[in-house]
Amino acid sequence: MPLTTTDPELATILALARALAEDAGSIQRDRYETKLSIETKSAAIDLVTEVDRACEELIVKGIQAARPEDAILAEEGYGDDDDRARFRWIIDPLDGTTNFAHGFPRFCVSIGVEREGERVVAVVYDPLLEERFEAVRGEGAWLRDRRLTVTSETDFGRALVATGFAYDVHRSEDDNLASFHNVVKSARGIRRDGSAALDLCYVAAARLDAYWELKLHPWDVAAGFLIVEEAGGRITDFRGGPADREGREVASSNGPLHAALLAQLEPGAP
Ligand code: IPD
Ligand code: CA
Ligand code: CA
Repeated sequence: MPLTTTDPELATILALARALAEDAGSIQRDRYETKLSIETKSAAIDLVTEVDRACEELIVKGIQAARPEDAILAEEGYGDDDDRARFRWIIDPLDGTTNFAHGFPRFCVSIGVEREGERVVAVVYDPLLEERFEAVRGEGAWLRDRRLTVTSETDFGRALVATGFAYDVHRSEDDNLASFHNVVKSARGIRRDGSAALDLCYVAAARLDAYWELKLHPWDVAAGFLIVEEAGGRITDFRGGPADREGREVASSNGPLHAALLAQLEPGAP
């Protein structure tokens, strides 16, 4: 049985988010390993391609046509954000741009929706594996017709853990390397696969036991946070405080491993 909801507002939004994520995903699939026009943004290693922009334009236009009253925060700047709107869509049109630009097969579309500031709908679509992770508040997290549950691992020494590095890593001292060192030395394995949204979905899907990263953005985490929460996982900042929807410090785990994960992480600048 796939994800359903009896809330008619959320059912409409879920259907739209699924359709837009799959349409954007098919652009990514078609353009994968083709010649791309690539530019840089905040740093020489922070890339944006024509495909990021085409996917965002498709998603934003689709929302504006169907739901002109909703606010949209989208990474490449096509949306109109407004804190006062009842619904707010938070979009990463292509999470994993570096991978996409190099032909490394790990990237996705991420769409999260808030109702009055509360995360309510999430869709993350991996177009190459054709995996659509999704969640509705109170209705669980799903992959196809499988309801997702985090792992039950209790020993950090048996944990598979993922992380990532911000685009200012060449020049910032707050670079995640001390935490990375600690986890390499204590967990069973560590991965840096290059898509924060998929990393969160993989915690939800019990493919990872934990994931952390700093200096993310709202579009990296809006969908993934709800998917982890609905799969029974935990998300906090690096001190165990509430999840930061801006993504500045993200520690996520199956729950039993959370204290052990936090113990490995070096808190950044307050
Ligand atoms: C990036 C990816 C990556 C993470 C970076 C993000 P982008 O997003 O999620 O895994 O380490 O911090 O900015 O730029 O590919 O959308
Ligand atoms: Ca991203
Ligand atoms: Ca992106």
